[in-house]
Amino acid sequence: MAQPLATPTDGPRRHPAWGALEIDRAQTAHLHLRDLFGADPARGTRFRVSGAGLELDYAKQRVTDHTLVKLVALAEQSGLAERRASMFAGERINVSEDRAVLHVALRLPRTAHLVVDGTDVVAEIHTVLARMSAFADAVRSGAWRGSTGKPIRTVINIGIGGSDLGPVMADAALRPFAQPGLGCRFVSNVDGDAILDAIQGLDPAETLVIVSSKTFTTRETMTNAHAARAWLVDGLGDEAAIARHVVAVSTNQEAIQAFGIAPENMFGFWDWVGGRYSMDSAIGLATMITIGPEQFAELLAGFHAMDDHFLRAPLAENLPVIMGLLAVWNRNFLGAHTTAVLPYSQHLHRFPAYLQQLTMESNGKHVTASGQRVDYDTGAIYWGEPGTNGQHSFYQLLHQGTTIVPVDLIGFLQPTTPIGDHNEFLLANLVAQAQALAFGRSASDVRAGGIPEHLVPHKLMDGNRPSSVILADALTPRTLGALVALYEHSVFVQSVIWGVDAFDQWGVELGKQLATTIMAQITSPKPPELAHDSSTNALIERIRAARADRR
Ligand code: F6P
Repeated sequence: MAQPLATPTDGPRRHPAWGALEIDRAQTAHLHLRDLFGADPARGTRFRVSGAGLELDYAKQRVTDHTLVKLVALAEQSGLAERRASMFAGERINVSEDRAVLHVALRLPRTAHLVVDGTDVVAEIHTVLARMSAFADAVRSGAWRGSTGKPIRTVINIGIGGSDLGPVMADAALRPFAQPGLGCRFVSNVDGDAILDAIQGLDPAETLVIVSSKTFTTRETMTNAHAARAWLVDGLGDEAAIARHVVAVSTNQEAIQAFGIAPENMFGFWDWVGGRYSMDSAIGLATMITIGPEQFAELLAGFHAMDDHFLRAPLAENLPVIMGLLAVWNRNFLGAHTTAVLPYSQHLHRFPAYLQQLTMESNGKHVTASGQRVDYDTGAIYWGEPGTNGQHSFYQLLHQGTTIVPVDLIGFLQPTTPIGDHNEFLLANLVAQAQALAFGRSASDVRAGGIPEHLVPHKLMDGNRPSSVILADALTPRTLGALVALYEHSVFVQSVIWGVDAFDQWGVELGKQLATTIMAQITSPKPPELAHDSSTNALIERIRAARADRR
């Protein structure tokens, strides 16, 4: 029989607030959101916090005032304020990689100073931002010419994970701010279809490729970068043309030079920027070219406004703190395995995918920072789609399925470009969904509609399904920065409670290593000696046979 797990000494169970929350859960389990609203008519206006231009309404979460007090106590007992201070000061809080975690420095104003290991990182950051701005302006204005003298019409960003998801998400989110006539395409997957689709119909003479990779060793990115380079050289007939058509964003100068990219075409960042926290570093070059340096500065200002709020607001009035604590409550005390993020904004259609890396690569951990196995659940599965589309697909399960899925509904009070009453219809649906999830429809309400008795069980809805609503004025670069920073810090809060290192990602390594071995076996000219399990051996043989047929 499996041994029960020992309780890690740096996990949350050691805090009195954890036990108090378990009691709270037992005492409040019978309460329905209908009861909570019935007992407190002011709940809808009291359970709200705002900051950095965002409003969080969490009245429809299954918490009482007592629960909230205990959750805040858990944050205090977990040393959240101290951990937050350590992060902002540039201490090496990514313990397993022995690195500082300083994405918050990327959005500090030029006038700020932050000295880490004897270097003012703010000055370095603004030096890179200035170079990015000059380059972005040159591309946008047409001053930057391709090797044949033509201006750039399309930018292709080649990167994966954190070197792709943020720029892709921002490109869609900030489309109305994009410069007309300057397109941006993205290639991440090593599937040849991705790069072939990206170059489809393009003139190499008018194309700029940005190779984005923190390490500059990621196989997918390097494979696609070589394919793009070959396409450029083939189309432009000259190796030297690369200097006008390929730039790189990375922390790895040597590898960039080895790839043949000149130092003046390289935009750097630092090992204290995690891949999934990097869309506001030079990894945002494609974003900056698309929306321009001024709007990029707005994006950074939005991030910084939320950083400031996170740093200064009291814990009980702090958006990322409240969001992070509610995530812990839903995960560990209400047993939710997943969280759905449902932006009522078509332009945020890649936001859930972006959040998947941010949340799951950060908090999908089975050991605490000191390496002890956890005996409680950590990061939830994040997923989602824009509303109202999702309403016509998976919301059925949200309302009547047998599993509880807390949801974040995100809406904007002003449309980016007004057209009829579309935005009102969108927001009406957002509000209606939160209401339906919370209050459902009782059997008597169903019967009151004159429904045949055999349909009553099908039509009733239990409700009591938790949701939060995040509202902002409009989807602008500033709002997007604040929204991303909100989730970044919420993820951090959760990691502090769970005692895990939110900034490493060792779980992605094994698959990469195995794929390298298997790739060599698939492509080996001689039949390789396969010593895997029988299923893996058979799959490799099958792929080798198909490859031989193709030749
Ligand atoms: O495989 C995971 C990962 O390491 C992510 O953490 C990272 O964002 C992504 O790969 C891409 O890495 P790089 O920017 O170094 O190419």
